[in-house]
Amino acid sequence: MSCEPTQKKDQPVNTTWWKEAIVYQIYPRSFKDSDGDGVGDLKGIISKMDYIKSLGITAVWLNPIYESPNDDNGYDVSDYRAILKEFGTMEDFDAMLKGFHERGIKVVMDVVVNHSSDEHEWFKQSRSSRDNKYRDYYHWWPAEKGKPPYRHSLFDVNGDAWMYDSTTNAYYLHYFSRKQPDLNWENPAVRQEVYDIMKFWADKGVDGFRLDAFQFASKDITYPEYPGLSPTNFIEFYAMGPYLHDYLKEMNQAVFSKYDVMSVAEGAGKTYQDAHDLVDADRNELNMAYAFDGVDIPKPEGYSLLKFKEVFSEWDSAFAEKGWLSIFLANHDQARMVSRYANDSAEYRAYSAKMLSTFILTMRGTPYVYYGDELGMSNPGFTDISQYKDIAALNEYQRIKNTGGDLDNFMKALQFGSRDNGRTPMQWNGEGKAGFTTGDPWIELNPNYAEVNVEQEQNDPQSVLNYFRELTDLRKSNPVLVYGKYTLLDPANETVYAYTREWEGELWTVMLNFSDSEGRVDSDIDWSNQNLVLGNYESPRTDGTLRPYEAVIVKR
Ligand code: GLC
Repeated sequence: MSCEPTQKKDQPVNTTWWKEAIVYQIYPRSFKDSDGDGVGDLKGIISKMDYIKSLGITAVWLNPIYESPNDDNGYDVSDYRAILKEFGTMEDFDAMLKGFHERGIKVVMDVVVNHSSDEHEWFKQSRSSRDNKYRDYYHWWPAEKGKPPYRHSLFDVNGDAWMYDSTTNAYYLHYFSRKQPDLNWENPAVRQEVYDIMKFWADKGVDGFRLDAFQFASKDITYPEYPGLSPTNFIEFYAMGPYLHDYLKEMNQAVFSKYDVMSVAEGAGKTYQDAHDLVDADRNELNMAYAFDGVDIPKPEGYSLLKFKEVFSEWDSAFAEKGWLSIFLANHDQARMVSRYANDSAEYRAYSAKMLSTFILTMRGTPYVYYGDELGMSNPGFTDISQYKDIAALNEYQRIKNTGGDLDNFMKALQFGSRDNGRTPMQWNGEGKAGFTTGDPWIELNPNYAEVNVEQEQNDPQSVLNYFRELTDLRKSNPVLVYGKYTLLDPANETVYAYTREWEGELWTVMLNFSDSEGRVDSDIDWSNQNLVLGNYESPRTDGTLRPYEAVIVKR
């Protein structure tokens, strides 16, 4: 497979590079520090491009690298056309983009435009007076009308999305932190500014955009009361505002249609219909849906594999004919996949990590792999609030403390689910600070870096890393894994997830044991007829029986 567009007219599906892509997500703050300040940077990424290429991935998605006061680690942008100083310069960015392109790797940028930073020039102007030209770039509620109807904020210490600002005696809206005021998409000037910013990056040659929190962008600016719903039911309450589709069509027309770029928005609405409408090629909005249902399943007390299979099978069938999905089990807003979905004990961590990667890389939909998952990185097990850096964790801790809530319980929840679990530094080697930095890392390392690291895994043919490379090879050389029809097998099996992929006469079967006991696929497959493709144990069996956390791929 090449990274170039591969539109083939006579195929039953439209084949394109972004369907065939394998996306590797880099959290730049945590990937590789080149100057010893404890924060990852672009030169650090540049120094690891050969490693990234060696993974067999074909695109990278970078979390925000723009100028930002870092209230939410870069998701609060103060200048959309400048690189965060801690990360480097625009020259570094250009060198990185060139380096990735020379290696056949596409680059996808995070576009954070549901909100900006309160330190963005637009907001500074907007808050300065009621008749400033930028006033309507944000959502304001004049205080003489009384308090605005309640809106919940995800990161606010009081949970209130309206923040009073005395300069103009008005409240501004912030669905995330107080330093992340929501942009007013209802204002055409705001939309034009955003399209110009996107064109600035597309003109540089970036290959795609991931639209952060975009399902919340369009709002009913009469700000009505929402009777009868839990104010914390965020997506139900706020997603898919009245003009969202219109804005996406407009963005598509202004930007996407003019470049060979892929587009994906975070979140896929409230229903399959919403998701479809976002990505149906005939509607000219986005390319692929990125739905949360799969990552919402694991809970500290465990989860049901039946539910997991149901979610992924339903999403697949909803997109069987039209539209395209993203497949992922982790990102920078989630704890590590091996700790959430499988088993991170010394005995099973490596098998589990390989098994989960087998899932991601054999499903229909574009796979997204989160940095470090190719090594089987796991949750670090933080026990003290001082170890956490994420505004979501810190503000919620404060809110619970202020209201006399159960902090012990909250600390347990953080240990399982905090976003910081997935943000610990990349583990390059077993020495010093894991080869991530020569200084003090901005967030603690996972103590297991002595065993789990690139250098160690590089030299071990059985490592999670080398197995991952086999998987990417397999996906790239077998269109059945990209485009093949998906069929769930043995749906009632509570511990084994098995499915087939079919394409142009090929029939592949993937079997994944999600438990620590032996498992078996109950189906009428003729086991005598199966050829081994890949497995995560030495000498895999092809008879439908599986050892703990075993993954086996066979084909007829
Ligand atoms: C998205 C990002 C998350 C960020 C939030 C606010 O959900 O993925 O990291 O905190 O938007 O920008």
